[in-house]
Amino acid sequence: MKDNQTIAIMMNRKSTRKYKPAMPEPEVLETIVRAGQQAPFASQLYSVILCTKGKFAFKAPCSFVICVDAHKLELFMKKRGWDIKTNRLTLLLLGMQDASYMAENMVIAAESLGLGSCFLGEGSINADRVRYLAKKLNLPKLVLPMVELVMGYPDEEAPARPRYPMEFTMFKDAYPELDDETLERSMEVMDKGYLAQDYYAKQKCKIAIEGTKKDEYSYADYSWTEHISRKWGQWAESPNDLLDMLRERGFSIEKDEANGK
Ligand SMILES: Cc1cc2nc3c(=O)[nH]c(=O)nc-3n(C[C@H](O)[C@H](O)[C@H](O)COP(=O)(O)O)c2cc1C
Repeated sequence: MKDNQTIAIMMNRKSTRKYKPAMPEPEVLETIVRAGQQAPFASQLYSVILCTKGKFAFKAPCSFVICVDAHKLELFMKKRGWDIKTNRLTLLLLGMQDASYMAENMVIAAESLGLGSCFLGEGSINADRVRYLAKKLNLPKLVLPMVELVMGYPDEEAPARPRYPMEFTMFKDAYPELDDETLERSMEVMDKGYLAQDYYAKQKCKIAIEGTKKDEYSYADYSWTEHISRKWGQWAESPNDLLDMLRERGFSIEKDEANGK
């Protein structure tokens, strides 16, 4: 694999879950956001809210709430005598991309300046958390909290985490039929990699099995593919609460409700 300063920063990045109390300098935080903005965009459908008051996960000194934002678009289009005709699902799909690319640029910029960060998914998929953030931050319609990103100077030294091998990630020219050996090799890379770091044991974050199925795993063999299977094999079966929340935020994506009206 090729190496240079940028690649080294990307390859060494890991989520930080322990922070020093020092608040990063305003210039540092602004640099991170400015570098974030330089990500490719469809229509700059994002805003980030920097939160410095209160307590944040992992004792981070600050947190960004990264939002999909079509409100600013609506404002400037009005100035030009236009209304948004585009359906809200299209705006949402593009806005999620704009906000995501910006967020990841911020993560890498932060890393390059010696800061660590960690995304928090509750602000993406827990409708009540989204509602709470929207109220607390006074978000207008067409602004949707997408994810929270805590940030600060790391107070831990963690190794970079494993990823799927290339054979399970990049496919040449067409999607292959994935055979059992490739699948098992790829699962093993992830599971052995996380076990080698005692990742779940250290965080004590085993997901309980709901219902009658017996839990046959201890922290000695509970790893990534089991963890992820327990999430998406048990959680969030109904989309209804999320659909309600999206409608409340102005992103009505049901069929035949074009423009959310
Ligand atoms: C959308 C999203 C939500 C996440 N939510 C959480 C979270 O709630 N708690 C947490 O500790 N890490 C969270 N993470 C961080 C992931 O666990 C982490 O990125 C992944 O395990 C890979 O590890 P690494 O970032 O150290 O390489 C989240 C990451 C993303 C992209």
